[in-house]
Amino acid sequence: MKNVLVIGGGGREHALGWALSRSPKGVKLYFAPGNAGTATLPQAENLAIGAEDVASLTAYALENKPDLVVVGPEVPLAAGLADRLREAGIAVFGPGAAGARLEASKSWAKDFMQRYGIPTAAQATFEEAEAAIAYLDRQPGPFVIKADGLAAGKGVLVTGDWDEAEKFAREALGGGLFGQAGQRILIEEFMSGVEVSVLALCDTVSKKIIPFEPACDYKRAFDGDQGPNTGGMGAYSPPGFMTPELRQRVFDEILQPTLDGLLAEGIDYRGIVYAGLMITATGPKVIEYNCRFGDPETQSLMPRINSDMLEILEATAAGKLAELPALEYKPGASVGVVLASGGYPGPYKKGLPVTGTEKLDNQSGDIYLFHAGTAHVDNAGVVTAGGRVFNLIALGENLAIARQRVYNIIDEGVIRFEEMIFRRDIAAREVGKN
Ligand code: AMP
Ligand code: GLY
Repeated sequence: MKNVLVIGGGGREHALGWALSRSPKGVKLYFAPGNAGTATLPQAENLAIGAEDVASLTAYALENKPDLVVVGPEVPLAAGLADRLREAGIAVFGPGAAGARLEASKSWAKDFMQRYGIPTAAQATFEEAEAAIAYLDRQPGPFVIKADGLAAGKGVLVTGDWDEAEKFAREALGGGLFGQAGQRILIEEFMSGVEVSVLALCDTVSKKIIPFEPACDYKRAFDGDQGPNTGGMGAYSPPGFMTPELRQRVFDEILQPTLDGLLAEGIDYRGIVYAGLMITATGPKVIEYNCRFGDPETQSLMPRINSDMLEILEATAAGKLAELPALEYKPGASVGVVLASGGYPGPYKKGLPVTGTEKLDNQSGDIYLFHAGTAHVDNAGVVTAGGRVFNLIALGENLAIARQRVYNIIDEGVIRFEEMIFRRDIAAREVGKN
């Protein structure tokens, strides 16, 4: 029996914990802080430690010496949690602070891509509003402006409206809109194409990078990619347009050069390299890197995988990824839809009672319910506790069948809470209807 500490409390961590709990080796799971779903996994316990409380996480791990720590979110990675635990001899899945700069500093990541010839949008960096606005004035638009540091997915503006672009640049640089994260901004070339997420296991010790199957995330709040950006409203896998040839190009032009670059920089990287890609007319280009599993992509990927996730994460953490056998998948596809609180990503109510979770036990094989913003309250049961409340995932022989299955469960009202919202069009483009 292995003791595994999973850091985070979202749908991603519930899905990872669920996958770990299926290991034939046997796993006792601890979540910091987890949610109402992680607490119901077999042999699992939620700890009252926040995912960003690096001091308490470190103290807990040093005292309890788990066999493996799996870090879900980027903030503790950027703060050096993995470095501290590794120094103490604890196996960690997740890069140290140096590697986490792939996500934590967009300008560092851009320079990295330039150094190693990794295709991405052209860009310029600014710390002064007047210089940024003078530069914007010379661009044709649409305009892409990004805060340099971590801004919880909210530090990016893509717009055709010059006035909006100018306002964003001014507010980030002069007005402190994103605090420290926005003291420097990037203005990027606009890339058109279709987006895809490629999450890859990366181990600089055994010099190996192994992609999971690609997945597509839906970032905007409303159908037809309208409305504000969110943490992600759904994801499906695998996308039909990711042909074997295109996957090979992604590997040769992006993933392998990323591993080579990390090696050349002398960075110890054991975790996920998540390449957010735009498939443009001239080929795949990096929109951004993340240094962790994607959310909600992970929720749509985990039920598709047959391999032992404990073995995979342990091998990566130990620097032995090269020894791992090829990943095995169930045949077919998956479609995942986020059930969110009315108002998200703006203000929303919390504490609303949820019904129906007991009807989906994650054992049937076709339908999986991963909790995100939920809590368990004595006498009330499961209640909403965040913007994204659940991820409902269906597997199917193909995307059309998986899609039909997931929306059937939603339409039957199996899971209910007041003011629930969700997107209707996840994977719709893959099955030729809207
Ligand atoms: P990011 O946080 O960097 O992933 O950006 C958020 C979203 O903005 C991406 O998922 C894209 O839809 C869009 N985006 C970012 N950069 C670009 C770009 N250079 N060209 C077009 N769209 C972009
Ligand atoms: N799916 C977007 C993210 O994980 O950042």
